[in-house]
Amino acid sequence: QAGIKARLLEINKEAAKYYYFQLKSARGQAAVDYLTKRQLSEETIKKFGLGYSNQTGDDIYRYLKHIGYEDDILRESGLISFDERHKVYDKFWNRVMFPIMDTNNRVIGFGGRVMGDGLPKYLNSPETKLFDKSRNLYGLNFARTSRKPNFLICEGYMDVIALHQAGFTNAVASLGTAFTGLQANLIKRYTTEVLLTYDSDEAGTKAALRAIPILKEAGLTVKVINMKPYKDPDEFIKALGAEEFQKRIDGARNSFLFEVEVMENDYDMNDPEQKTKFFNEIAKKMLQFTEEIERNIYIEAVSKKYETGFENLRKLVNSYGARL
Ligand code: UTP
Ligand code: MN
Ligand code: MN
Ligand code: MN
Ligand code: MN
Repeated sequence: QAGIKARLLEINKEAAKYYYFQLKSARGQAAVDYLTKRQLSEETIKKFGLGYSNQTGDDIYRYLKHIGYEDDILRESGLISFDERHKVYDKFWNRVMFPIMDTNNRVIGFGGRVMGDGLPKYLNSPETKLFDKSRNLYGLNFARTSRKPNFLICEGYMDVIALHQAGFTNAVASLGTAFTGLQANLIKRYTTEVLLTYDSDEAGTKAALRAIPILKEAGLTVKVINMKPYKDPDEFIKALGAEEFQKRIDGARNSFLFEVEVMENDYDMNDPEQKTKFFNEIAKKMLQFTEEIERNIYIEAVSKKYETGFENLRKLVNSYGARL
């Protein structure tokens, strides 16, 4: 049906404005306090169009009806739920709202965070005719014009916002799902290098390991930023500030050497048998380097770091496939 996307865009825009103006309501003050506690400036709140979804249960529904939208299109918006008895309730209820924009600054969906420890921590718009999580990135509408030499890819809304506020306007995040090839191709339009700045916990490390091959496949150079001892970029910047974060950017590690370091944790390197298994796994992964000089550089780096002979490791690599 022609026009349905256009109408959904209108609805999202109206909803974003509504949520934003709710910050000025009596109940919205709690959201302002929350955002202030998280050290976001008024300017940042405005730039990202953050807002507040009210507490009454069908607030945005009544508003959108009032300005002329019918149930059938509201059903498609993902903002309203209708149960079997056609009872209606807002999907986002008493949350801080994060509008998700496409590269043309059009609102295509929302994320909503509880103000405190409730679950789920973040609720996201469902996929709609407008909103495809796998082909959009949070913050890309700003990052695409940042004129930085690379992109920072992080996990969450708050990371992107904290990074932009600190001057790192090249930060983007995937939308609470695994990083996709479509997103990698999207990034490739604007830059050739990405720095992964995922959370330093196990989930973040796993997400980074999954994203690396996808990003490489798209032809991007990938490096990994070490956030330790902090959990994520938001917390890092709050604790140490932008200058220290810039140092971490400058010291970002080669993604293959990062992968090797993570793999090392699965083996007892004092046990010869385990260490041999480790080298075998590394050797297989080395086959991705199809240029002799590059492969040799990696072989040298790994053989030095883990104390085996260069020739030893080179032979092992060759035993797995294409000799160079
Ligand atoms: P995190 O759990 O790392 O949260 O999730 P965060 O971004 O650090 O959040 P704060 O700092 O506590 O506010 C990272 C991202 O994963 C998605 C969101 O996009 C979030 O920003 N997520 C997380 C969800 O979609 N739902 C959840 O319940 C949790
Ligand atoms: Mn996380
Ligand atoms: Mn990490
Ligand atoms: Mn996090
Ligand atoms: Mn966080």
